[in-house]
Amino acid sequence: MTPMKCARIVGVGAYVPDRVIKNDDLKQWMETSDEWIVQRTGIKERHWVKPEQSTSDLALEASLAALKSAGLDKSKIDLIIFATLSPDHVFPGSGCYLQSKLGIPEIPALDIRQQCSGFLYGLSIADQFIRTGMYKNVLLVGAEVHSKGLDLSTKGRDVSVLFGDGAGAVVLSATEVTDPAKQSFIWNTRLHADGAHAEELWAAAPGTGMPSGNWLDEQMVAEGKHFPQMNGKRVFTSAVRRMSESLTATLKECKVTVADVDLFLFHQANLRINEAVADQLQIPREKVFNTIQHYGNTTAATIPLGMRDAVAKGVLKPGMLVGLAAFGSGFTWSSALLRF
Ligand code: UT7
Repeated sequence: MTPMKCARIVGVGAYVPDRVIKNDDLKQWMETSDEWIVQRTGIKERHWVKPEQSTSDLALEASLAALKSAGLDKSKIDLIIFATLSPDHVFPGSGCYLQSKLGIPEIPALDIRQQCSGFLYGLSIADQFIRTGMYKNVLLVGAEVHSKGLDLSTKGRDVSVLFGDGAGAVVLSATEVTDPAKQSFIWNTRLHADGAHAEELWAAAPGTGMPSGNWLDEQMVAEGKHFPQMNGKRVFTSAVRRMSESLTATLKECKVTVADVDLFLFHQANLRINEAVADQLQIPREKVFNTIQHYGNTTAATIPLGMRDAVAKGVLKPGMLVGLAAFGSGFTWSSALLRF
């Protein structure tokens, strides 16, 4: 076949901070139990940063690991895409901090705010830039520090037990594909959003949408408007439905079946969500690689963190066909198919 310009993943890296918070550790702040958290979510522990660590610090470690795994010098990167909902500061974007910490000045640094779908939105953006020939090597990072922004009182426990800190990164490079059955490439990406559900999972403040007319004030802080709020059941059912729909559409568009796919890596919000998606699509559970047990929900970082661990465990190998899906605040959702 005529060579087709595509993007492929050439390196994967991840980083989680050293401090491990077990479910029972959370009991010092809120009324909860290991039993409740494990039963409802699958989570056993998560990692939290030290006070001085920022999101771009975590991203830097993941990026250096991804560059090392790619065997690519950082000077060859010509675009940074940084997906996060927990930036270092309100502005500028964390991509600019990462670029400076990496020491690769002048290349563009793009922050995207698609929450739990951030990594797959970023994958699609990187893919488009590479397919058009505009960039050859893109560093895509998903990184979050949730622990500094959670309501750790019993009032906030439905959300705060779920989230962890971490970062994952991939390096994507241009490739000429002549044999899609063998070569590594990003085959398909699908992106969706429905803003009608924006407030089912959100942090209201700081923001210009606050009716008091202030970006942030004492009353907002007193009312906990700066903490994430979630309608857990609505998010849960929507996640199962939308991830299943999107992944089914991706497989159909590529004319492949569940049996053709070697491994599925889903966003890690709740083990039960991923089991329900697997059951709906009749995916054998052993084909779904989950990491939520040890990291909780690290939002934009879950999928690249999972990739890193799957590679390290020998579960994800070059040449494998991999199905990806994510769902989160927005609502946003997405799916992708790639040959690793
Ligand atoms: O990344 C995308 C974003 N997030 C998600 O996709 C998460 C989607 N939602 C979920 O995973 C689930 O809805 C949760 C895990 C958040 C909650 O599970 P649930 O089965 O929907 O529980 P629930 O909210 O109905 O709560 C059941 C009970 C309540 O008590 P009562 O009213 O029945 O007495 C809660 O107050 O569990 C209580 N509860 C807790 N108990 C101990 C809520 N959080 C906790 C907690 N520890 N951490």
